[in-house]
Amino acid sequence: MKRILVNVAWPYANGALHVGHVAGSLLGPDIFSRYHRLRGNEVIMVSGSDQHGTAVSIRAEKEGKTPEEVAEKYHRINKESIEWLGIKFDIFTKTHTENHIKVSQEFFLDLYRKGFLYPKSTNQYYCITDSRFLADTYVIGTCPKCGYTEAKGNQCEVCRSTFEPGELIHPRCTICSNPTVLRESTQLFFALSKFSDPLQAYLRSVHGWRQNVIDFSLNWIESGLDDRSATRDLDWGVPVPLPEYSGKVIYVWMEAVIGYLSATIELFSRTGNPDGWKRYWQEEKTEHYYFMGKDNIPFHTIIWPAMLIAHGSLRLPFNVVANEYLMPGNSKLKFSKSRGGAPEIRELGRHFKPEHIRYYLTSVMPEGRDSTFSLEDMVAKINNELVATLGNYYHRVLSFSYKNFGSLSCPAEGIDLQPAISDSSVAAASVSSHIEACEFKKALKSIIDLAQRGNQFFDRCAPWATIKNSREKCSADMFNNLELVRRLAIMSSPFLPYSSEKIMHFLGLSPEEQLKWDMLDSTPSSFTLNEPAPVFERIDARSIPGVLEGSAEKDSVLDMRVGLILSVRKHPSADKLYLLELDIGERRQIVAGLRPYYTEEQLTGKKVVVLANLATANLRGYQSQGMILAAENGDSVKFLTPASDVPVGPLDCSRGISAGTITIDEFRKADLRIACLSRGELRLSGECPPDSSEIAVMVGADGIVPLKKDDVAITVDGGKIGPGSRIR
Ligand code: MF3
Ligand code: ZN
Repeated sequence: MKRILVNVAWPYANGALHVGHVAGSLLGPDIFSRYHRLRGNEVIMVSGSDQHGTAVSIRAEKEGKTPEEVAEKYHRINKESIEWLGIKFDIFTKTHTENHIKVSQEFFLDLYRKGFLYPKSTNQYYCITDSRFLADTYVIGTCPKCGYTEAKGNQCEVCRSTFEPGELIHPRCTICSNPTVLRESTQLFFALSKFSDPLQAYLRSVHGWRQNVIDFSLNWIESGLDDRSATRDLDWGVPVPLPEYSGKVIYVWMEAVIGYLSATIELFSRTGNPDGWKRYWQEEKTEHYYFMGKDNIPFHTIIWPAMLIAHGSLRLPFNVVANEYLMPGNSKLKFSKSRGGAPEIRELGRHFKPEHIRYYLTSVMPEGRDSTFSLEDMVAKINNELVATLGNYYHRVLSFSYKNFGSLSCPAEGIDLQPAISDSSVAAASVSSHIEACEFKKALKSIIDLAQRGNQFFDRCAPWATIKNSREKCSADMFNNLELVRRLAIMSSPFLPYSSEKIMHFLGLSPEEQLKWDMLDSTPSSFTLNEPAPVFERIDARSIPGVLEGSAEKDSVLDMRVGLILSVRKHPSADKLYLLELDIGERRQIVAGLRPYYTEEQLTGKKVVVLANLATANLRGYQSQGMILAAENGDSVKFLTPASDVPVGPLDCSRGISAGTITIDEFRKADLRIACLSRGELRLSGECPPDSSEIAVMVGADGIVPLKKDDVAITVDGGKIGPGSRIR
């Protein structure tokens, strides 16, 4: 028997849980834990709300509340969504508890006493108006490297250079907009650089990790580990437990990761066995799994392991499983409230049942690569796969058997190893090996495929005919079908726990005793059925209030392509125009008015987005065979661009179209804009938070649809221009 601690990244308590959180980090570990519980392994699953840090303070300022009020509010909302979805934590606590504060302070003191935390004088941004030290997200200024005017205190999102305090030109406070000053402040630094060797040795010794996680982490270490400031001059957080450092808090990440330990301690403190946590943290046998989105990787593969090594005698991660992102996809159906964004679970809950959401989000889980979410796809997959395949098989078998027999015994010759039945063992093996490898999407697919074969088997049995001439044959066939239903219910219960319990009840079996992985091969000698009812409901998209039906009106068809600028020269007689030579899958000459905004050097070799089916125009004597798309905001103009490794060729939305040429007026009818993508939500107005990105979108009857090439979003050159900016 295995012993497994399942650690799930703690969602920030700065907003309501949405589909991105569930598909990205919460649902996978629930499936994993439920499976291991079914196998009889010793499992606990822990997490909670990450309540400290500037993410929460910023939200509090927006809502006019204290950080604590906001942290409590979203903790309550999110805990409720998690429970409603059937995500079964042994404990879902929060970081603002007496226990967590105590455990994280003790951990911190231990590192301090061992000499891994040392004082270092730093200069930090300080706002005289607000009389406070400013975290990096509260400072913006001009990048000394590229001149971008909205660079953050510690990093320029345009050229990606990182800075020490003081390097930014004209730094100002984002709270009051006044210039900031530098003030001396002593912080405790964590000696991360000392752990380079042990971390490399550790990361080379692990097995079964996803390659992206290993590669990313080793690269990070190889590019050099710097000591990290482990304290901050803030008042919201876990106070540094040393009198000389009063008024400072522990850096939120270094405190939140200790939550895995403090939550385990809290869980056992409520039992008669308060030392029980030690079995999970100190004994060699225990395997620690961590589940998260990819932006959390370095904290779990480098910083937390270094802290654990420094502390000693606690288990290191056995596997760190990181998902990519779930992005809003192409869709005609939108919730009116979050047009284009990631719907909140609360909102989905008004129209979908937990298992609808669990099914769909597993089927699009961003394992290994980014994936997309859309309500249309959600409704289609629920109706065509969950309801029409699995639900339909369950119901046909149960209702026919109940009506015609009520109680059925195993045929004398035993279960009939026809294909559907015999390969249910193969399917079960595939489901379990995929779950153990944290490939939940594939595991679910094996189940649906088996249900599909179940339907074919039922059809081949044709019980509606055999019941008339051979009741005995019909009973034997239906017993086999019921047995397949039973096996499907066991296999699918990590994914769809509620319906599996119902199915067991309809089969006359006790879920507590029979819903176990071991029971897969234990065919009962008979079934005494209870009256069945369908376990999954179909979704009628039109009946969902707030969801707009896409209009049939078609946007003009734009042939947009990624192009590479091969050469640039000045137009001989027009001082705003360049003559450009591009490769867009074919050679094109384009005349563009970019001279006020870009130099020839800045353009040469760049990837841009070209409208390729604009009628050829003659601009001051030169043919222009297309238009380079750029976003415009007041005086600034920035061209659209994909990541540099994206090949030339049509954008995803233009793929396979044979569009006729269009006029510039027809092009203007399309509403192309820049939207802010922040934690899975798309917005066209307001300010764009520092950790977000701006991407090009088309606004139309389909809602807000990101422009992409090979699933990679198109952004603006230089990172940001402001949400809502028009593209022309
Ligand atoms: N709150 C972080 C996020 O949402 C995750 C914290 S994981 C923890 O990205 F372990 F540090 F808590
Ligand atoms: Zn820069």
